[in-house]
Amino acid sequence: MSRSIEVAVFPVAGLGTRFLPATKAVPKEMLPVVDRPVIQYAVDEAKEAGITEFVFVTSRGKSEIEDHFDHHTELYETLERRQKAAALEDARSADLPVGSYALVRQPEPLGLGHAVWCARHVVGDRPFAVLLPDELFRGRPGVLKQMVDAHSRLGGAIVAVREVPKDLTDRYGIIDVETDDGTAASVKGLVEKPAPAEAPSNLSIVGRYILPPDVFAYLDRHETGAGGEIQLTDAMARLLGDHPFHGLRFTGDRFDCGDKAQFVAANLVLALDRPDLADKVRDRIKAHI
Ligand code: G1P
Repeated sequence: MSRSIEVAVFPVAGLGTRFLPATKAVPKEMLPVVDRPVIQYAVDEAKEAGITEFVFVTSRGKSEIEDHFDHHTELYETLERRQKAAALEDARSADLPVGSYALVRQPEPLGLGHAVWCARHVVGDRPFAVLLPDELFRGRPGVLKQMVDAHSRLGGAIVAVREVPKDLTDRYGIIDVETDDGTAASVKGLVEKPAPAEAPSNLSIVGRYILPPDVFAYLDRHETGAGGEIQLTDAMARLLGDHPFHGLRFTGDRFDCGDKAQFVAANLVLALDRPDLADKVRDRIKAHI
């Protein structure tokens, strides 16, 4: 049986230039979708999958993220005094258990592979998950839980994959498929952001990974790839042959919250999921669509 996945890495060092001016003073991961910051959806998804240790790879100007997951004594005491039980419960729902999370810095934006490498000492010699918080998933169970379940059967490395239109392969890591049972595709190659003509398939990697710790040995080399960056996809390609490697087609909706239109759509769709908001939101926007 495969070793269980206890630890997850959240790369949150990016500048968020696509959301300026909103992200001038606020980390992009803290922009709210309905009433929770984007990052909290990824953390909740990880919790649901059984993750108990959380590693945030941060950079300058990201301290709001650690505050968000911390106990806020002053706020809780005020809410308690005012007998605001529901608000208190909402505020506390974001707390991570004391000692369950760590922050490491990525001092320079050298690529996703480099960001993950920055977490190597906290992860240690354990298989681990990586969640890119820009990717927000809606569906039950969450995508990471689906992957953890697949990992307990298949072991090795697992990436979440979804079909993309062929002309968009140059925005993603793309897998080359050996065999495919319609749910799990066994991977024989990985390419970061290939031009459509060179893409081995249209199955894109969408921001969720379960990886063996051996990947750090390849990231240690600091080799650069697409865009001159240290790519996680390139280090993962080196694992092929030594570990089973699968792309998992997951169930559930995906929103790329790094894209303005999809971020706005995520807000609307998730609001329409909420019994306390659905009718009011529908009524208010009806005249505009
Ligand atoms: C990163 C990865 C890429 C993956 C994508 C998913 O790219 O390098 O392989 O497909 O995330 O969102 P980025 O979007 O950071 O350029």
